[in-house]
Amino acid sequence: MNLLKILGSSLVVSTLLFGTTTDANVTKVKAVDSDSLVTKAKGQGLLAIPEDKAELLKLIDANKTITDKRVELGKKLYFEPRLSKSGIISCNTCHNLGLGGADGVPAAVGHQWTANPHHLNSPTVYNAVFFKAQFWDGRSPHLEDQAQGPMQATPEMAAPKSLVEERINSIPEYVEEFIAAYGKEVKVDFETITATIGIFERTLVTPSRYDDFLNGKTNALNPAEKEGLNLFMDKGCASCHTGIALGGTMQPFELAGKYKFAHLGDFKGDASGMVKTPTLRNITETAPYFHNGGIWNLAEAVKEMGSTQLGIKISDEEANKMVTFLKALKGRKPEVSYPQLPESTDKTPKPDFN
Ligand code: HEC
Ligand code: HEC
Repeated sequence: MNLLKILGSSLVVSTLLFGTTTDANVTKVKAVDSDSLVTKAKGQGLLAIPEDKAELLKLIDANKTITDKRVELGKKLYFEPRLSKSGIISCNTCHNLGLGGADGVPAAVGHQWTANPHHLNSPTVYNAVFFKAQFWDGRSPHLEDQAQGPMQATPEMAAPKSLVEERINSIPEYVEEFIAAYGKEVKVDFETITATIGIFERTLVTPSRYDDFLNGKTNALNPAEKEGLNLFMDKGCASCHTGIALGGTMQPFELAGKYKFAHLGDFKGDASGMVKTPTLRNITETAPYFHNGGIWNLAEAVKEMGSTQLGIKISDEEANKMVTFLKALKGRKPEVSYPQLPESTDKTPKPDFN
């Protein structure tokens, strides 16, 4: 099936982008408790991914750039290793869509097998469209802008703008697809190439049972998950992990105490020491945690938040309860079929490992 069908039109629910939910087990038994929990959650700024497609599209496509053709092309470019100098590293190398949109290693590894010099961990691309800022220090405002960074950065894809443009323009099928996506006058330049990847990333949205619950399906969360959500709010986690992304804004870090693994790498946040709050969606899939991937265990990460951010001691039992809730944030992924990429020509610049 075609992921793009839904995106171009504001048609009815697609099981592709949004997965399926069943009403079968929805009863009214816990209606009162659940209603007050939902009210409390909304009061703390926790928001569901809208079920209504038109409403969702408004959120992910504010500038109305999403079309089927651009998303399909952006997907190819997302998986395109020839956008890297070596010809072997794509966005999907570090933001693997089969691995929760991340890579599962503490510090990202890129060009020449080099680990990120600041020991930075690859954040997930799923639901990144909902973030107010991109990168751990929030230096980029949106996905289209963000995509320019890794392609040029030496520890990542190490490809200068001109090389990226030469590679793509040397492949006639790509040029044709850009014309089909943007019209005859399109300039197939670095900015258009990276922006098209950003447009694809806008579609990487993963609604979960938690969203179903906030959207009114009382039994979408079981009692233990509801208890975990309640505790998450009572402990103050939602003061930073809030909004649709349960994260995505800049917040102070080490507010109450020192981070146990602060010695790994030299990242200290932005100019005022603020750090981009990671999303908690799909969190069970994106270990290791924190900007430098210092912690592998989710309950341990939760306890660390208690000491670094809240100045409280979170017991094992409490951490486990919150983890039970966090597991319910695992979302239904859009079905992304692996694209066939057009072949290189004699003019395509060769891989360069230097
Ligand atoms: C070598 C691994 C690597 C590659 C390749 C890579 N990234 Fe990243 N990505 C990272 C790391 C590490 C960060 C965090 C860096 C920082 O904050 O300075 C990041 C950050 C991001 C973010 C910000 C998310 C957030 O939570 O702030 C997005 C979006 C993203 N990358 C998309 C892409 C796209 C699109 C490509 C392909 C053009 C790409 N990345 C290629 C490792 C990689
Ligand atoms: C004051 C704001 C704030 C509060 C309160 C807060 N967090 Fe965080 N949280 C952050 C920031 C910022 C980071 C990223 C820190 C870093 O890696 O440098 C983070 C990281 C995390 C991570 C690791 C995510 C990842 O992908 O690496 C988890 C899990 C987490 N928080 C859960 C919680 C829980 C559970 C609570 C409540 C007990 C909580 N947080 C309270 C701001 C906050």
